[in-house]
Amino acid sequence: MLLQSNGAAYLCNTERNIFAMNDFTYLNPTKIIFGKDTDPQIGRECAAYGKTLIIYGGGSAEKSGLLNRVRKSLDAAGVQHCEMGGVKPNPRLDFVYKAIEKIRSEDIKLILAVGGGSVIDTAKAASTGAVYDGDVWDFFMKKASPKGHIPVGTVLTIPAAGSESSSSSVITKEETNDKRSLTSDHHYPVFSVLNPVNTFSLPAYQIACGASDMLAHLMERYFVNVKSCDVTDRLIEADAQTVIKYAPLTIAEPENYDYRAEIMWAATVAHNGFLDLGRGEGGRGGDWASHQIEHQLSAYYDIAHGAGLAIVFPAWIKFVSRTNPDKIIQFGRQVFGVNEADKQQAVNKTAEALENFSKSIGMPTRLSEIGIGREKFAEMADKACACKNYDLGVYVKLTPADVEEIYNIAY
Ligand code: NZQ
Ligand code: ZN
Repeated sequence: MLLQSNGAAYLCNTERNIFAMNDFTYLNPTKIIFGKDTDPQIGRECAAYGKTLIIYGGGSAEKSGLLNRVRKSLDAAGVQHCEMGGVKPNPRLDFVYKAIEKIRSEDIKLILAVGGGSVIDTAKAASTGAVYDGDVWDFFMKKASPKGHIPVGTVLTIPAAGSESSSSSVITKEETNDKRSLTSDHHYPVFSVLNPVNTFSLPAYQIACGASDMLAHLMERYFVNVKSCDVTDRLIEADAQTVIKYAPLTIAEPENYDYRAEIMWAATVAHNGFLDLGRGEGGRGGDWASHQIEHQLSAYYDIAHGAGLAIVFPAWIKFVSRTNPDKIIQFGRQVFGVNEADKQQAVNKTAEALENFSKSIGMPTRLSEIGIGREKFAEMADKACACKNYDLGVYVKLTPADVEEIYNIAY
């Protein structure tokens, strides 16, 4: 039997409730340079483009000595370069505007982001904004689409957001509490240097936030209603178990190269698009409601994205399993070894296992724990849905009232 849904055709065997894997085309063009002896390659990669603008965050890369190694690598390769530091976590639009000005005035040929998701997302937004006549925020409000870009390279310092090999950029407009994500093929970095040694200086809290974000990226992809996607289901489960195993080990032994390497690669794999394939419309798929629900928290309260997800995801699981429990139960069984025969018990144990993991690495699991009250729940719920044109969620569609209830469950 052939089913039509949102313009996409699915082969459906109603008896066994099997929806066929969707067609897909896959290309992720980011060149990954992974390992401990990768510093000299930074300059060599930049040399292929020319004058480079190094963008970095609030000082960790200077303090650890990484920025100096980057500068030396560029000098050794004869690459002209200039710099802009000061990107804040939950990166702001104002900084993107300043970077665009600098890119234009200095005739920059490559932007080199040295940092994590916030620095990389700033570089990506500036890269498309610099070649656009209008306001770069138009892209994030879906009033226009990027048509070109200045290439971006990255030197990753925190395994978490996966921006080093993703097509997304997430930027906050502070005045209106709008945190918006934009996905575009123009956002793929041309190269990303992943040296686990550059993450040794990462404090336990940031390791935990990163692990929470990786796990969320995996779960967002896992929870779709396409039933025939065993290959990617198994890969997602394996990556999730890797995160769950290595996050606590890394916190306990921050300078263990092997642990840092495992967690670093797990983060990139979780968000480079490979695990989406066949799982949704246009061949890419995932639920992504929890991300929108969390983005409102980090927009309104400036909390770390990973900490927000540790709170939101178990609440989302409790809510959606009222109507669609089966995949939640499968995830609990495969990843956490939950084996309850009763469906409700299985769901409860899965949410509990996720919360226990978060607690074990020092993440919060309730909004009240981090001082967030109920005042803005309705406003944030509406914004979370508005970001998706009131078509939020795939596994279960959510209305603003549903999202408000999820915030209440998370309270
Ligand atoms: O600013 P500095 O001083 O560098 O300190 C940072 C920052 O305070 C610190 N840090 C990073 N590397 C370090 C380090 N401290 C010591 N040693 C190191 N090696 O960590 C803090 C957090 O950095 P940030 O870049 O904000 O973290 P993350 O990579 O988690 O990025 C979070 C942002 O990415 C967005 C999030 O919403 C959030 O705004 N996301 C981006 C995505 C994408 N582009 O594909 C997808 C994600 O779902 C996410 O939404
Ligand atoms: Zn995320």
